[in-house]
Amino acid sequence: MSVTFNFVKDKKEKVENIVVLNFAEVQPDLSVLSKDAMLYVEHALGVCGQYKAALGETVDFILPEKVTEKRVFVLGLGKKSEFNHMKAEEAGGIFYTFLKKAGVEECTISVRGDFSGFDFMAEDVASAIASGLYLRSYNFDKYKSKADEELPSLKSVDFVCEHSAHAKGLFDDFKAIGQGVYQARDLVNMPPNDLYPDAYAKLIKDELKPLGVEVEIFDEKKLAKMGAGAITAVGQGSDRPPRMVVMSWNGGKGGADPIAFVGKGVTFDTGGISIKPAAGMDEMKMDMGGSAAVVGLMKTLALRGAKANVVGIVGLAENMPSAKAYRPGDIIKSYAGKTVEVLNTDAEGRLVLADCLSFVQKIHKPSMVIDLATLTGAMMVALGHEYCGTFVNDESLWKQMEQSSARSGEKLWRMPLDEAWSKQVESDVADLQNIGKVGRWAGACTAAAFLQAFIEGDTKWAHMDIAGTAWRKTDQPTVPKFGTGFGVRVLNELVSHYYEG
Ligand code: BES
Ligand code: ZN
Ligand code: ZN
Repeated sequence: MSVTFNFVKDKKEKVENIVVLNFAEVQPDLSVLSKDAMLYVEHALGVCGQYKAALGETVDFILPEKVTEKRVFVLGLGKKSEFNHMKAEEAGGIFYTFLKKAGVEECTISVRGDFSGFDFMAEDVASAIASGLYLRSYNFDKYKSKADEELPSLKSVDFVCEHSAHAKGLFDDFKAIGQGVYQARDLVNMPPNDLYPDAYAKLIKDELKPLGVEVEIFDEKKLAKMGAGAITAVGQGSDRPPRMVVMSWNGGKGGADPIAFVGKGVTFDTGGISIKPAAGMDEMKMDMGGSAAVVGLMKTLALRGAKANVVGIVGLAENMPSAKAYRPGDIIKSYAGKTVEVLNTDAEGRLVLADCLSFVQKIHKPSMVIDLATLTGAMMVALGHEYCGTFVNDESLWKQMEQSSARSGEKLWRMPLDEAWSKQVESDVADLQNIGKVGRWAGACTAAAFLQAFIEGDTKWAHMDIAGTAWRKTDQPTVPKFGTGFGVRVLNELVSHYYEG
């Protein structure tokens, strides 16, 4: 069940669980507490000298029966000099976990205190903490026949702050982002027996059409007819044929060139005839993470009524080995007309993307294109789960992405494009080959070079390899593997700052 957030000027008369915020090395503002509680907490904080109010660090005090409040939580915000909007959100996320362990269902968070010296106000802090709580409270339990939540979990939070309507407005804006992130996570977490290309295409239509997004679905017949031979080849081994879905959001000026986002949507990647090892293959249900981010982004843009013209395009295919499957050695013809020698059927994502990139450039004439894909294991080896490797052919676009990354907290790291890698994907018998000539070295870079061959003229283009960031595999057995929704936030930021002014 999702958490309800309220923003109020005054707290309810009787509050059981109350939270005060505390910067490191500063006395917390306890004025929201009853006299008795204030004295008690002041004393307790003095005694427990270990509490340093680091970011997200929390202490809680259970108060004697006669005191109005039952429990007081002191939530650390870290050093004031290091504090910002993102830190507040992080504190909210950490605090969610604390509240869950403590079994708290309702609480009131007082956002009083001195927030002077920042370029934001208490209301920003309230909405950022709420955003952190919201994102962390995500849960994927659709497939549990019985809710495994015998334990109580957070249901409602009141934020007490001076300009409560303003704080609510800020959080409402964030909600559009949060819902896009939830959408992307849900898609990544869905099992591949339910999320296959046709079902996925229908789901996109059901979710986005009511929000005012135009959705066009290309089935396998249309794809073959229009010459999209690369996505067709990848999908041909499966009984569940491929789809291409084009989503258009026209919230900007009529006639203005759109910007385009392209997502790899391999609903399950067995590797095909170049089959992957069995161990961990289940995780390849996340190989549609790029497409999930694009769908989530389109949802966010629609929900917040973005003043931008955006085209989202996803290539959906299931990569299976079968008698009908494409083979290593096959030469296929892409939508752009370029021929590709397939040397490894597990390097399928770049083939799916190639057709989508060509199609969107030809038909929609975007001013720039950004693709997202769980493209290579090599990217994970290089940057792990923390950073998304980003290849960009234009300095100004990279600057914009870097700034959007800083604002959203989704980390990007620029990776190189180079002629040397473009040479490596030239084939002896066709225009291109789908893996680099020197095997696995710089695998993320040769993959990017392959995609680059499908970028026309001086189209600005970025490729985000989200293999490591779309999915988190924790080493704690109690924390599940899950889709992160990576990409929605940084790209929403990009759209909002650079195309809406
Ligand atoms: N979907 C995988 C990449 C991947 C691996 C994503 C691990 C997330 C986690 C992709 O289709 C793939 O298999 N790539 C190959 C390319 C190779 C054959 C050149 C790889 O990375 O091993
Ligand atoms: Zn693969
Ligand atoms: Zn793949």
